[in-house]
Amino acid sequence: MSVLRLVQFTDPHLYGDEAGTLRGVATYPALVGAIEQARSHAWPVDAILVTGDLVQDDPAGYANFRRAFGCLGKPVYCLPGNHDVPDDMRRELGGHPFVLGGSVDLDAWRIVLLDSTLPGSAGGRLSDRTLAELDSALAGAPDRHALVCLHHHPVAMSSRWLDRVGLDNADEFFRVIDAHRNVRAVLWGHVHQCFDGLHRHVRLLGTPSTCTQFLPYADEFAVDPRPPAYRTLELRPDGTFRTEVVWVDEAARRRAPHSACSAA
Ligand SMILES: [Fe+2]
Repeated sequence: MSVLRLVQFTDPHLYGDEAGTLRGVATYPALVGAIEQARSHAWPVDAILVTGDLVQDDPAGYANFRRAFGCLGKPVYCLPGNHDVPDDMRRELGGHPFVLGGSVDLDAWRIVLLDSTLPGSAGGRLSDRTLAELDSALAGAPDRHALVCLHHHPVAMSSRWLDRVGLDNADEFFRVIDAHRNVRAVLWGHVHQCFDGLHRHVRLLGTPSTCTQFLPYADEFAVDPRPPAYRTLELRPDGTFRTEVVWVDEAARRRAPHSACSAA
């Protein structure tokens, strides 16, 4: 077994209109710029992770998501965020190369994709059923190392407004995590900023968005002028891993074509 290479893109917030902007950033070109930079520096990868808010409340954005990721020749593991539209997401992204939720085994690792969305709420919660699925996904592969992915942050980000819309039942989540010995990392989006911490032996990782960022440690909502970003992960067979947040440089954003697929 060899090292698995993954790249995480999160919170692209796409619209049906590819020129659509979120807080001044055109989200589709920003995503394509992030993909292009990752293809220049991180390829080849074994799989792509996208941890929610694929669209900005606009079901037509899934067609642009398909354009951006559908032709990269890699599986794209997705889970929903609070700005996704679940029925449209399932319909538009059903089938290869997209995988929505569940768990996936790659060599010595099991990737678990959780739905933490709560209808009508910006905050998140894991249902009893999802917690049971997490428990059985971890129990079902005790010899695999687990990477658990969700949209909402399960620990405080030290940002008062953002911590009101985190994972509501994080205590129940960590009770399941703590009942197993094979979880190596928990990975999320939603926070539009970096986070790198520990819960006992489990690494906790939050990743900035491919579009606009939130100012860390802010009591009230504020935009951070930092650029789009993505995260690389190299998962080793022994359960150790290496990860890095990569900020997209302006030149890559200017070079980005209208579609990642057009440059494939
Ligand atoms: Fe988001």
